[in-house]
Amino acid sequence: MQKRENWGSKIGFIMAAAGSAVGLGNIWKFPFTAGQNGGGAFVLVYLIFVALIGFSVMLTEFAVGRRRQLAAVGAFKSEDKRWTFAGVLGVLSGFLIMGFYPVVGGWALAYVFKVMGGLLNNPAAIGASFDAFITNATSPLMWMVLYLILNVIIVVKGVSSGIEKAGKILMPLLFGILIVIAIKGLTLPGAMAGMEFLFKPDFSKVDGSVILAALGQAFFSLSLGMGCMITYGSYLSKKENLVQNAAIVTSMDTAVALLAGIAMFPAMFAFGIEPAAGPGLVFVVVPTLFAEMGAMGPMFAVLFFIALTVAALTSSVSLLEVVVAFLIDEKKFTRKKAVLSSATVMALLCILASLSLGGVGPTLFGKGAFDVFDLLTDKIFLAIGGMLLCIFAGWRLKKEDLYGEITNNGTMDFPLFGMWYPLVKYVIPITIFLVAANGIRQGFESGSGPIMLVGIGIIAIFAAISKKL
Ligand code: TRP
Repeated sequence: MQKRENWGSKIGFIMAAAGSAVGLGNIWKFPFTAGQNGGGAFVLVYLIFVALIGFSVMLTEFAVGRRRQLAAVGAFKSEDKRWTFAGVLGVLSGFLIMGFYPVVGGWALAYVFKVMGGLLNNPAAIGASFDAFITNATSPLMWMVLYLILNVIIVVKGVSSGIEKAGKILMPLLFGILIVIAIKGLTLPGAMAGMEFLFKPDFSKVDGSVILAALGQAFFSLSLGMGCMITYGSYLSKKENLVQNAAIVTSMDTAVALLAGIAMFPAMFAFGIEPAAGPGLVFVVVPTLFAEMGAMGPMFAVLFFIALTVAALTSSVSLLEVVVAFLIDEKKFTRKKAVLSSATVMALLCILASLSLGGVGPTLFGKGAFDVFDLLTDKIFLAIGGMLLCIFAGWRLKKEDLYGEITNNGTMDFPLFGMWYPLVKYVIPITIFLVAANGIRQGFESGSGPIMLVGIGIIAIFAAISKKL
């Protein structure tokens, strides 16, 4: 076997893994999903899932990736061909998430220029302008393509050093701006209602679909369930402390999500924007808030959307990389051909996703492409992917081997192994099974059930033909 390239430094790995985790999932998706799912109780369930399931699954992905030093598909396949499908399912998730993520990345990029063009001059029109923009047939497509081209350039080069450097400056900047927004938001009249909405659990609002949404959000935000962290772990040196790395990445990601929530909800309540406003939330709340800040407002807003675009980029390149690594390792593509062909397919999916927001294009069980891609991945593929990984690690790999991998052959302490192992072997698979089953059942009331069942069907087919994949 070839000697595997390693991360230049420990901090380089953490930056890349945290860069993958922190993205639109934290700043765009978390606030509006919390809003649509009733606030506090959703946030609490999400936090419990992050601590119990997210952290453990991330550690498992790191361990499985580093053990064989192979990317997502190879890590399963090299162990047992009947498990190849679990890796290939991740590649499919990569395509589907990249079938809408660049659409939103394109919005972020567009907003850099919209703010410079005077978006903040007429605060009352900011909401309507967002709706008009995303339902437009052509303009968002241009921005999406531009955003996707940035991904292609980064991933063709194979080394993401440039983007990592940008991330090193812009991620702390993003964090700083979020703090500014949060402080400003908290000082607005009526802001406390927003904090209450976000942190005071109202358990009457919890049902099967809220719990599944919280589970999906935890996986999506931490970049889990599709082999992304397996791939990143495969480049990790045998000397690194996996437990510590998983703990740092998990807490950083969660801190940014909570901060984004604190930045968004007080301002929303102060401005009288509906908590269930949906995907436009950041794109409306942040400009409206900065419009109140006078001359400094536009500058802050431009910086915010630049930082958001870069945070999105460091995430989407990790998604693209999973697909590209599969095509190179398993299908013998050159890197350039792998990137260009997968990005072309992703662009086509994104066109469908973007047009569907304007009500144009094919639907499946009444849902447009954007919703279908999101539902399949966020509600089914990622969580079931995580479940499969845990079953694989708990039942297919040997306990001693896992212990050795995680403790670097006993040279490092992991006192919680006795808790982590039964979690991975029993508790997490059973929990995910129950949450998914209950969420799908409830999904039949809201119309998303049939699509989730299609997802389960796809997984079953993949499992049946695993050896041929
Ligand atoms: N976690 C990223 C975000 O929050 C998105 C992402 C990157 C992702 N890689 C992933 C989601 C792998 C699921 C699986 O924006």
